Amino acid sequence: MSHSSDPQPMTSRRSGPLTGEAQVPGDKSISHRALILGALSVGETRITGLLEGQDVLDTARAMAAFGAQVERLGPGEWSVHGVGVGGFAAPESVIDCGNSGTGVRLIMGAMATTPITATFTGDASLSRRPMARVTVPLAQFGAEIAAREGDCLPITIRGAADPLPLRYRTPVASAQIKSAVLLAGLNAPGETVVIEAEPTRDHSERMLAGFGADIRTETTAEGHVITLTGRPELRAQPVAVPRDPSSAAFPVAAALIVPGSAIRVPGVSRNPTRDGLYVTLLEMGADIRFENEREEGGEPVADLVVRHGPLKGVSVPPERAASMIDEFPILSVIAAFAEGRTVMNGVAELRVKESDRIDAMARGLEANGVKVEETRDSMTVHGMASVPGGGMAATHLDHRIAMSFLVLGLASEAPVTVDDGSPITTSFPDFLPLMRGLGADIGKSD
Ligand code: S3P
Repeated sequence: MSHSSDPQPMTSRRSGPLTGEAQVPGDKSISHRALILGALSVGETRITGLLEGQDVLDTARAMAAFGAQVERLGPGEWSVHGVGVGGFAAPESVIDCGNSGTGVRLIMGAMATTPITATFTGDASLSRRPMARVTVPLAQFGAEIAAREGDCLPITIRGAADPLPLRYRTPVASAQIKSAVLLAGLNAPGETVVIEAEPTRDHSERMLAGFGADIRTETTAEGHVITLTGRPELRAQPVAVPRDPSSAAFPVAAALIVPGSAIRVPGVSRNPTRDGLYVTLLEMGADIRFENEREEGGEPVADLVVRHGPLKGVSVPPERAASMIDEFPILSVIAAFAEGRTVMNGVAELRVKESDRIDAMARGLEANGVKVEETRDSMTVHGMASVPGGGMAATHLDHRIAMSFLVLGLASEAPVTVDDGSPITTSFPDFLPLMRGLGADIGKSD
């Protein structure tokens, strides 16, 4: 649903040691995919641990609009009776994907090779984001697409009646592009191939294989090559969604920068295509241990044990960017408390997320006394012994910008305020109570 509530300013203040257990919500990427693949399969898919953030709720509503039977059975527990590959019905009204780039891009892929027409829209943030990256390959399957000027939402797609399979090299590292093409390829005869220069998150591939699709991944001289055979009968599967490493990053960061802290974050996905932040934090000298490493729902998971301690700045190589693409805002906050400079390279994609995240972080950090340098595709944060804080950060309808600055205020000298914390519900509806439960002084501004 489009974000329409009034702005909700929030403030965080220097806090005593954070302690206890942080039960972060289910993984956002996996939650979207579980609903979409459930809707495209035959039978009932039972999902546990689903993230009930607004982004995912919008995808659930969209799947119902395309004809799946979607039902909430209890907290995080959902049932989807699918319509099968090629079985989507034309929705009666516009599909509003709210703030979610993942939702809209994957759903456009999932319907583009079925001969129905649908119109997609979203909130002010989503309506500014580039969609040509998916409409270009989807048109090559034979879909007819009309977009607002600049290839932005609203977009109407008339799905291909006789889709052709596609061989597609992604122009930028993006799991959303890869997944949109694979989902479209489900209803095209023959083999659809996606080639990516650097591997991106592989939840679609893992889940498609789990639902019975014939899909394989090879690393060749061309890059990372994923081949899917079209027109499978997807069979409904139970999906246990692991906890989101991107959401875990916020309490983890808070524990790293607030002196005396020691927290535990159980059951977090350790999928190697999502692990870049944790690799980087260990290089910075962070005290993080991974306990009870195990497999749950086809994904590696572990319990994280995190303690405050000294950190040093590092240079993050560009080839690591895809595996931590959503974590650069919170890394730039952690970097403000590290000794020396932290350089983030190859991060141009941050400019087309829910906001221009390089600009949003640089302006907000500067407003709180932290020195930042930026180029088109890099950001450098100068760490300091004590971060002044005391500033206001503009969040631009971006949940991760809001949470990052609220974490900053927990260890800075003066409080930090964000102009609008309401977007946090898109990915982490219980952020405030969870952080308060650890001892964080954080809440709505007076
Ligand atoms: C996602 C892929 C990433 C990420 C987003 C979730 C996904 O986007 O930023 O939050 O679930 O596929 P890109 O594919 O645009 O890099």
